[in-house]
Amino acid sequence: MENVTIMDHPLIKHKISRLRDETTGTNEFRALVEEIAMLMGYEALSDLPTEEVEVKTPIETCKTPVIAGRKLAVVPILRAGLGMVSGITALVPTAKIGHIGLYRDEVTHEPHEYYCKLPDPISERLIVVTDPMLATGGSGVEAVDFIKQHGGKNIKFLCIIAAPEGVKRFHETHPDVQLYVGCLDRELNKDAYICPGLGDAGDRIFGTK
Ligand code: PRP
Ligand code: URA
Repeated sequence: MENVTIMDHPLIKHKISRLRDETTGTNEFRALVEEIAMLMGYEALSDLPTEEVEVKTPIETCKTPVIAGRKLAVVPILRAGLGMVSGITALVPTAKIGHIGLYRDEVTHEPHEYYCKLPDPISERLIVVTDPMLATGGSGVEAVDFIKQHGGKNIKFLCIIAAPEGVKRFHETHPDVQLYVGCLDRELNKDAYICPGLGDAGDRIFGTK
C-alpha cells in the first residue's frame, strides 16, 4: 500500500514484544514507548530536507548539512500519544507540540473530541501525529480530519501497533498521509481491542485502570 510503512527492525520488534508482555510494569512500558517512537521517528524523518552551512572545525572551514526548510510539529492524540512525544523531540528538540484530545466511546467505539490546540500556522509545518494504537482507525482518522481543517497539509502518522481494519480505514480516508506502523497485528476483537495487541495503551502508560 502506497504511503504505508510497516517497520522491519529487530530493535523495534524486541521492544514491542516487551510492551505486549502483561507483566511489563509502568516504568518500563513508558520507557519502551519513548524508545520505539524515537526509532520510528528516525525512519519517518529520513526525508527531512537539509541545507549546507559553513562550519569552522578545529582543522579547517567546511560546508556541512543541517536540517532545513519545513518546521516540525508533533501532535499526540491524548492520552496515549503523549507517551511518544519525548522520543520525537529527542531527535528534533525545536519541534512545536500540539494536542488533540479524543476518547473512544466504550459502547460505540466512536471517537469524541474534547481538546484541540495546534501550533499556528500549522500549514507550513511537517506534522507528526503520534498514537500507539490504531484499532478501528476512528481516532486517527478524526485527528487528521481536525489537522486538515486547521490547514495542515504535510502529515505523517506514527502508531506502534495497528489492526488491519484500522490501516485500511485510515489509508482509504487519508491516502495522502504517510502512515508508519511498528507492527501490524492480526485483528480486532468484539470490543475493538487489537489482538494480540498490548491491552489499553493509555492505562499502561499512565498506570490507570
Ligand atoms: C486509544 C488509543 C487510540 C484509540 C485507538 O485511546 O490510544 O487513540 O484508542 O482506537 P481506534 O483506532 O478504534 O479509534 P482511548 O480512546 O482509549 O483513550 P486514552 O488514550 O485516553 O486511553
Ligand atoms: N486502544 C488501546 O489502547 N488498545 C487497543 O487494543 C485498542 C484501542
